[in-house]
Amino acid sequence: MNTIDNHEAMLQPPEEKKEPTRRQVLKYLLGFSAVSTFIGVFTPIFSYLIPPPAGSGTGGDRVLVGTLEDIPVGDGKIVPVGHKPVVVTHTDQGVKAFSAICTHLGCIVIWDKTRNLIVCPCHDGLFNPVTGAVVSGPPPAPLPTMSVTVDNGNIYVGEA
Ligand code: FES
Repeated sequence: MNTIDNHEAMLQPPEEKKEPTRRQVLKYLLGFSAVSTFIGVFTPIFSYLIPPPAGSGTGGDRVLVGTLEDIPVGDGKIVPVGHKPVVVTHTDQGVKAFSAICTHLGCIVIWDKTRNLIVCPCHDGLFNPVTGAVVSGPPPAPLPTMSVTVDNGNIYVGEA
């Protein structure tokens, strides 16, 4: 570049900074809002409709939920199996497992060691820790049974 070109370049007006117009800013905000709304509405729907991948502990796999030392005779525990809560009881008739979702209105049951019962805290539904049968209260059906395997002192639970 010679000195004449330099001189001409210096005489050019500086490039104007283009500021976004109000219309463009509103357009960007509207676009961002539409995308956010789409993600917020459809993400839960898609995650509900598309099942989790196999092997994630929900498809009948057996899941290690504890040991016989964790749940001694006369005790019980709520454990996650896949995405579902399960109540595991250790009775004098062995280790048992049931869905921890109450058959009345779907509350999560708890283990009540003092009463030796599975209890639904929502409407005081009571379940037998050996069979899962309804002892009293409004639940219309027993707790669904889960399969239990005890191997080397480890307790595994899977779908029945
Ligand atoms: S939801 Fe369990 S007793 Fe009502």
